[in-house]
Amino acid sequence: MASAFAVALVALQFGLTTANDATCILDDIQVQDNFDLKKYLGKWYEIYWILPFDINDPFTDYNHVYEEVNSTHFVSHITGRSYEGKCFYNDVHFEIIGNSKFIKIEDSDKPFWVLKTDYDNYSATYGCDEKFENGTCNKARGWIWSRNKSMSLEHFNQAKNALESACIPTSELLKTKQTNRE
Ligand SMILES: *[C@@H]1O[C@H](CO)[C@@H](O)[C@H](O)[C@H]1NC(C)=O
Ligand SMILES: *[C@@H]1O[C@H](CO)[C@@H](O)[C@H](O)[C@H]1NC(C)=O
Ligand SMILES: *[C@@H]1O[C@H](CO)[C@@H](O)[C@H](O)[C@H]1NC(C)=O
Ligand SMILES: *[C@@H]1O[C@H](CO)[C@@H](O)[C@H](O)[C@H]1NC(C)=O
Repeated sequence: MASAFAVALVALQFGLTTANDATCILDDIQVQDNFDLKKYLGKWYEIYWILPFDINDPFTDYNHVYEEVNSTHFVSHITGRSYEGKCFYNDVHFEIIGNSKFIKIEDSDKPFWVLKTDYDNYSATYGCDEKFENGTCNKARGWIWSRNKSMSLEHFNQAKNALESACIPTSELLKTKQTNRE
């Protein structure tokens, strides 16, 4: 487990492709074909993330469990620890608005896209809060999620490639610390 992380970190440090969000046209970004909500449900651990703004106090042990409400809606049961180590729990409701695309009900102008997932191991997820007039994104959101607290280099690379094809600067991804605490 620890060595998988180490390898992934080395890959991050030396696989420097500094993509720029503002080169990909949002409408051209490839998302997961034939998205299957049922297979996507369940627990995902956050392994890497990048947001359009700086966060000084990142969460640890962040994961969420997706539970179906009906064919177009699901709820995300979020668990994590604040920077000080305090646990938090939060439910967020989502609506599916198209293949691989969903929105937070209470924050509907910030869609999430599943760029790539094999459902069993990893997911690369994308979001854009602000679109430039030329159709590109002004700093995107991106995440790599795993079904486990760690992930193999193979699955990490698949997720990383998906983020790179959406012009996410993967060299700037931040790692979510997953401890052994539940
Ligand atoms: C789109 O516009 C942004 C902001 O003006 C700019 O930084 C970016 O280079 C442009 N991208 C393309 C592909 O023209
Ligand atoms: C699915 O659930 C949502 C949220 O509870 C509700 O607004 C929507 O009408 C439901 N859709 C169907 C098809 O039942
Ligand atoms: C998930 O990863 C395991 C281990 O590498 C592999 O055997 C399995 O086929 C993967 N699942 C899918 C759906 O690709
Ligand atoms: C993930 O963890 C589960 C149980 O903890 C294990 O059965 C499975 O093999 C693991 N999958 C991978 C890809 O490591």
